Amino acid sequence: LSVLVLNGPNLNLLGTRQPEVYGTTTLADIERDCRAKGQALGLDVEFRHSNSEGELVDLIHDARGRHAGLILNAGAYTHTSIALMDAISSVELPTVEVHLSNIHRREPFRHHSYIAKVALGQICGFGAFGYLMALEALAHHLRSPA
Ligand code: DQA
Repeated sequence: LSVLVLNGPNLNLLGTRQPEVYGTTTLADIERDCRAKGQALGLDVEFRHSNSEGELVDLIHDARGRHAGLILNAGAYTHTSIALMDAISSVELPTVEVHLSNIHRREPFRHHSYIAKVALGQICGFGAFGYLMALEALAHHLRSPA
């Protein structure tokens, strides 16, 4: 079983980007930890990043048939992108939404998520550890869909 962990705009700058908000963990650190967690759960992990909305849409389309589920941190597109929401609906992949920060206690424009409308659930506020929680949740869902 294989899952896609997909990261959106500006997440390539993790480690140096607003460390007071996002911590000092880099995206490469998160990738390494996701691979280890995936191995422990018996999941193959493909880890991708793109800064562009259209490329994220393409990556979601390409995941159909190749991956059993999706973990998505869509960055700021979370709050704006009907296209990403529709892509997830179109491929019907079970999706767990992740954010490093707790978007609900930040600026009001971060409170709404288009991704949440089509996700199994949302994990936010636990920093990089949220990706590992998401893998755990997705593995559980794939074993016993609720
Ligand atoms: C984020 C939260 C978003 O509001 C923000 O635009 C990001 C990162 C997070 O992981 O906390 O780029 O998705």
